[in-house]
Amino acid sequence: MTFASRIASLIVTLTMTAMPLHAQTINVMPMPAHVAMAQGRFYIGTRFSVEMAGYHEPRIDHAVGRFLGHLKQETDVTEPRAFTTGDPEASMRLYCAHAGEPEQSVSEDESYSLVVTQSQIRLDANTPAGVMRGLETLLQLVDKDEHGYGIPALEITDSPRYPWRGLLLDVSRHWEPVDVVERTLDGMAAVKLNVFHWHLSDDQGFRFESKVYPKLQGMGSDGHFYTQNQIKDVIAYARDRGIRVVPEFDIPGHSTSWCVGYPELASAPGPYTIERHFGVFEPTLDPTREEVYTFLDHFIGEVASVFPDHYIHIGGDEVNPKQWDANPNIQAFMKAHGIANDDALQAYFNTRLLAIAKKHGKSIIGWDEVLTPNLPKDVVVQSWRGGAALGVAAKAGHATILSNGYYLDAFKTAADHYAVDPLGVAPPDLTPAQKKLIMGGEVCMWGEYVNPVNVDSRIWPRAAAVAERLWSPANVTDVNSMYRRLAILDAHLAAYGLTQDRYQKTIFNEQLQGATCEALPIVASVLTPLTDWSIKVTSAVPLNRLKDVVKPESLEAWELSKLVENPKANAEAIRNKLVLWQNNATAVMPVMRDHPMLTEDVPVAQMLNDVCQTGLQALGYITSGEPAPASWSAAQAAFLAEAAKPHNEVVIAITPAVQVLVNDAAGTTH
Ligand code: ACM
Repeated sequence: MTFASRIASLIVTLTMTAMPLHAQTINVMPMPAHVAMAQGRFYIGTRFSVEMAGYHEPRIDHAVGRFLGHLKQETDVTEPRAFTTGDPEASMRLYCAHAGEPEQSVSEDESYSLVVTQSQIRLDANTPAGVMRGLETLLQLVDKDEHGYGIPALEITDSPRYPWRGLLLDVSRHWEPVDVVERTLDGMAAVKLNVFHWHLSDDQGFRFESKVYPKLQGMGSDGHFYTQNQIKDVIAYARDRGIRVVPEFDIPGHSTSWCVGYPELASAPGPYTIERHFGVFEPTLDPTREEVYTFLDHFIGEVASVFPDHYIHIGGDEVNPKQWDANPNIQAFMKAHGIANDDALQAYFNTRLLAIAKKHGKSIIGWDEVLTPNLPKDVVVQSWRGGAALGVAAKAGHATILSNGYYLDAFKTAADHYAVDPLGVAPPDLTPAQKKLIMGGEVCMWGEYVNPVNVDSRIWPRAAAVAERLWSPANVTDVNSMYRRLAILDAHLAAYGLTQDRYQKTIFNEQLQGATCEALPIVASVLTPLTDWSIKVTSAVPLNRLKDVVKPESLEAWELSKLVENPKANAEAIRNKLVLWQNNATAVMPVMRDHPMLTEDVPVAQMLNDVCQTGLQALGYITSGEPAPASWSAAQAAFLAEAAKPHNEVVIAITPAVQVLVNDAAGTTH
């Protein structure tokens, strides 16, 4: 299917449920702050030109170039043009008032306004970052009607609600090469996320090329690290898209990979090897030795020379104090310096680290655990533990970022993430000044179960729901509208080169040893993964099981959940879906039996078949008007409770919607 017909069919499928007019008329994510629809449409045609007026710099050329490139790829435009001299005939007039900050910071102006009339488009912004945000909105507004590609006439004034809208990518637990990072930045730009939090070190790998301490990556990375030139390119790529890059070096815990090359940093003698398991481990930097601070001083100096952002993230989470407690020198140091316990020792470490960072012109961010009573106020606290922790930090005067509720590896739905608002989860008794300290949030892609093949599918499109939460006004909360636009955005992201709709083929091919099976992706479309953390695997285990290939959220299941809200009216659509999934579940079982990598999932296919059967029976009762017998309802509820559990870390995502049908058949709802 072409991009345009795909979008058109999505729009038809997804407008089944009644929605407010505003939400029905614009397909943009994040939803802009103010939208006023007007009469008519601007048709794009084949020649499209942009006049760039006002302040000018290469970033504007690049952003306009990307915009025109996408128009050419996705519409009938064959002759895109951009120029800086006046031309009254220009399709679009872009005006940038002035330069942005020399180094984009949390206070960068990202606002813009758009006016689309039947004859021209106008985009006004104060800064290049605002121009970029406006161009992304404009691109998403493009759709097709019977006369061709166009944009509805409207006026938009837009600016973000939170200034810190980040995405964390963990490249330590599994290596992600530069092209994955750049794709991620493309996706971030599309949904106006503005901070790339690069989790560059952890127990499983040290991914930054240190020239000062080359054994860090030399012995701690299996050869998978970014050279400083690659990092500089990524930073430039991000800046070109209005995105800051904040590096994280997680210390003093999560630091095994440091200690492989430099065991003298640790609190126990070693030797150390790169950690292959996932979890919390013992190797921990020694906060009591001056040599450690000398090392960190040189290292942070080097990091500061490569990363221009004002912040360096020092991790600080999940310190396992076992090595500290077992080391008599550390214990003696604590006694001599009146350091009462392990938390106080970490606080001492953080204070030293802050002074080092300051010396190199940087401020630091740490996870919740860095928050101690005497922590200097300019340390930013990132909360992975919850809204209460966010509140404690804000009340203590720290700027904060929320990540609790935004963990993509938890395989929650877009709706779950969408419901989490940093100011909404913070305690209600914060003063206005304390509320202002809540800078925003970061969606987190931890790396235990992602690799270059499936990572896009774990990030997108769900991260866009968080992007909207952090950008759009607080009252933009309509979940139906969000899902409708999310599906459309998903297709846009695919056109931008993200792979979340293509990656499955790679793993299916491997599972099927080159055979084809059309039923497999159809079955997979109603399955979701659920990691069982009690199963101990290592980073060497390939991510090629069914749970690694099914998408984190089933939009099919969401659509079914909408249809079952009115099962009588939607009976035919529901039946068609259940029959489709049941037929494909039946078809996939012999294929699964024949292919060893899929054989473990035969029971999942059988269960899907049975869930569909239950749904079809329930639908039979509903359409006949005869209530289902109580014994049948009870038996189905017991079966569905079993079916709702994960099997081989795979969940049948349509089970809750089928339970709604069973309830309905019994006459307990509607
Ligand atoms: C974390 O999840 N330990 C930051």
